[in-house]
Amino acid sequence: MRLAPGQRRAVLATHLALSVGWVGAILAYLPFDLVTATSDEPATLRAAYAAMSLIAGAVIRPLAIGALLTGILVSLGTTWGLVRHWWVAISLVMTALATIVLLIEIQTIEAYAAVAADPAATADRLQGLDSTLLHSVGGLLVLLVILVMNVHKPRGLTPYGWRMQRRAAETLRQR
Ligand code: HEM
Repeated sequence: MRLAPGQRRAVLATHLALSVGWVGAILAYLPFDLVTATSDEPATLRAAYAAMSLIAGAVIRPLAIGALLTGILVSLGTTWGLVRHWWVAISLVMTALATIVLLIEIQTIEAYAAVAADPAATADRLQGLDSTLLHSVGGLLVLLVILVMNVHKPRGLTPYGWRMQRRAAETLRQR
């Protein structure tokens, strides 16, 4: 399956909007996460967990899934292929892992937000909830590595990529 030039540009633009949007949404999430790590004030904690749950569930989740799917589409639809170049294969694995961790983490965030939304939750209970800083900062760093790698597109074919290149060269020689 090869994308026509116009289709490729459209898919790439969508891929960029979703994947870089994912980075931006984490940046919007981080200040609330920092608040949960540093504040003891119940009303502040309630507001922060509510905002985190909203941003993670309604913004970050669809962006992550969209970035992964459009990444796969733009790879399969171009000569890059999904597993021909190390940078694409590594992007695929890292993004898939980041998305899986995110989907699991969102369940925790939603559980925290449910406690924070409960008027009966005591200050002690609210202060006992964790921050998710380790995941959000770690996730941000992983995305930045993928971002830089995808812009640079370092050389390097996988064994499958070498085989495909050799086969294409042989086909050309036989013509
Ligand atoms: C959050 C994760 C990702 C980020 C931040 C990201 C970022 C980017 C950026 C900035 C570009 C544009 C590079 C340029 O043209 O100069 C790009 C292109 C590309 N990305 Fe991603 N990407 C992500 C995930 C993925 C995944 C999972 C795949 C593959 C499965 C992938 C495959 C590609 C391919 C093949 C291109 C080149 C498309 C073309 O030249 O037509 N990306 N990506």
